[in-house]
Amino acid sequence: MAASRLVVLVSGSGTNLQALLDAIDAHPGGAEGFGAEVVAVGADRADIAGLERAEKAGIPTFVCPVKQYGSREEWDAALTAATDAHAPDLVVSAGFMKIVGKAFIDRFGGRFVNTHPALLPSFPGAHGVRDALAYGAKVTGCTVHFVDSGVDTGPVIAQGVVEIRDEDDEAALHERIKEVERALLVDVVGRLARHGYRIEGRKVTIQ
Ligand code: GRF
Repeated sequence: MAASRLVVLVSGSGTNLQALLDAIDAHPGGAEGFGAEVVAVGADRADIAGLERAEKAGIPTFVCPVKQYGSREEWDAALTAATDAHAPDLVVSAGFMKIVGKAFIDRFGGRFVNTHPALLPSFPGAHGVRDALAYGAKVTGCTVHFVDSGVDTGPVIAQGVVEIRDEDDEAALHERIKEVERALLVDVVGRLARHGYRIEGRKVTIQ
């Protein structure tokens, strides 16, 4: 079977993207064996390490900064078109820090995966790590889920647990979450691509 086509969206350092690229590279069967290949990387800003990683790997990139468009709807339409141009089977938001709009969800709903650095439904939003720490939670982690029209509300595919230590600050905790998160994302994307999946209400089953 041909490898699934992935478009990965990033806003920052892109270590989750790198983990996917490394896993595909390291697979004895290459992209076909892994089940997926990254066909393009998109971002909402230029000059970020995530884009450099893609360029270094010879993967096409595109950038859609919100400020470049007259409205959020125009931005959403442009992001949708730029992503669609690469005919993805799955779209992966790997540290993409923008909430996409209706056009994007209409086009890619049910095949748009996000990774979030907390155990949803706890601590959604842009500060999941900070919020778990401030709450005094004893465990947190990461959630890989399908994106719906809410903020971090879509059906959960997989979660990983990370203990919060007394001495943790946000950076230290986020780093430990990201170690778990990268492995989880690689595992989930590979399994979705290789085995296929069903979404029934909130329940996701990988076949
Ligand atoms: C991840 O923890 C992701 O969940 C969060 O931002 C981080 C992105 O890291 N939203 P990277 O850019 O993949 O290194």
